Formats: sequence, structure tokens, C-alpha cells
Amino acid sequence: MQKAEAALGVKGFITFEGIEGSGKSTQIKLLSDFLKSKGRDVLTTAEPGGTDIGLKIRRLLLEPENHMDPLTELLLYNAARAEHVRKLIYPSLLQGSVVICDRFADSTMAYQGYGRGMDMSVITTLNDVVIPELKPFITFLLDMDVEAGLRRNIGAGKEDRFELETIEFHQRVRHGYLVMAKEEPGRIKLIEASGSVEDVHRKIIEALISVQNRTWGLNTP
Ligand code: TMP
Repeated sequence: MQKAEAALGVKGFITFEGIEGSGKSTQIKLLSDFLKSKGRDVLTTAEPGGTDIGLKIRRLLLEPENHMDPLTELLLYNAARAEHVRKLIYPSLLQGSVVICDRFADSTMAYQGYGRGMDMSVITTLNDVVIPELKPFITFLLDMDVEAGLRRNIGAGKEDRFELETIEFHQRVRHGYLVMAKEEPGRIKLIEASGSVEDVHRKIIEALISVQNRTWGLNTP
């Protein structure tokens, strides 16, 4: 990936992060509709996934019976991301689309780093290889109480390998996200996500306008 091309792409790359049940999918749909109504081309995608191979890796990673070593898990997330970035994200950004991704590299730091306790420098080194030059210009971290989030997901027909993890695991993930948001306040926007869907959407638009209004000519909905 050429540096100039990558720099071009970065301008339209938005990610959503958060613990299980924090409402990312609903908010991604609302943000996508908002941006489309302002005339932007928008691609929404998710990790792990986004490509045929990514979806196969996703099944490996999430099926509850697939017990695996944490290093295997870390490498599989990175393998799915390598496909996703090269086959879908970069090409879409280069065509001028805004790309909104449900989870990205911050998830790896939060789940494999803070959650599993894997060496952060290994995670950072893999990042440098898999996504050189690609960073979201804004990341919305939807934050809420861990138990409330997990309760929201009950009955959603979803009991994957991570949902079966302990509350303590999910608390470490949440703590990790909060540390990351403190370290990078310019990019990672902490959004309190336990309020109504409309309230959370409004906060997201306000945060987006505060960093991108000049380029995209956005106004409140
Ligand atoms: P989700 O698509 O329902 O959010 O499920 C994906 C799960 O994978 C979620 O529990 C978080 C986890 N995950 C990681 O552990 N590391 C990663 O790098 C990514 C992208 C997701």
C-alpha cells in the first residue's frame, strides 16, 4: 500500500468499539443513514468478517466449541483483518466512500490485550504489519455497564465464545477501552451508551461534527 494512497483513505474511516451489547449495530445504521442523507457514499462493515475468508475465520473464532490458544486467537483476528483491509476497506476508501467498521484494531487491544493479558508489544507489532498507515480518524467508544450490556444480548440468539467468558473478562475489556480513550482523546470519543437510542445517536453526531464539520459540511439532524 502506497503511503499517499493510505493517507487518502484515512480521512473517511470511522470505527465503533465497545463491550458486548453496547448498541453498536443500531448506532452504525443510524450514522450511516445520516451520512447518506448528507450525500456521502457509505460502506458499513464489521470485524471479524467483511470478506468471504473473514467470515470463515469469524466462525472459527466465535463458535463456542473452538477452544484455542490465545496466540492462535490473536493471529486469526489479524488474518481476518489483513483480508478485510486489503480486499474491502482500502479499495472503498480510495473510491471515496466513508467506511464505518463495527470493531477494528482497538478491539484486539481491548480483548486480546486487556482481556486475555497478551503482550501489548506483540499486538502493536502485528498492527504495524497488518494495517500500516491505517487509523480511523474517529472512533466511537460506546460505554456502559458490563452486566447491563450482557443482559441486552441475552435472547438475541447469540452465545458465542466471548459471551460465554466471565464477567471479570468483560470488565477487563471495558477497563482497557477506557484507558485507551484517555490515552487518545482526539480520536477515541467516549459515548455514554446506556441512554435512549436517539440520545446516543445525537451524541455521536455532535462528536463527529466537532472533528469533521469543515470537510463534510454536516449539521445536526
Ligand atoms: P461481534 O461482531 O458480535 O461484536 O463479535 C465479535 C467478537 O469478537 C466480540 O466478542 C469481540 C471479539 N473480538 C476480539 O476479541 N478481537 C478483535 O480483534 C475483534 C475485531 C473482535
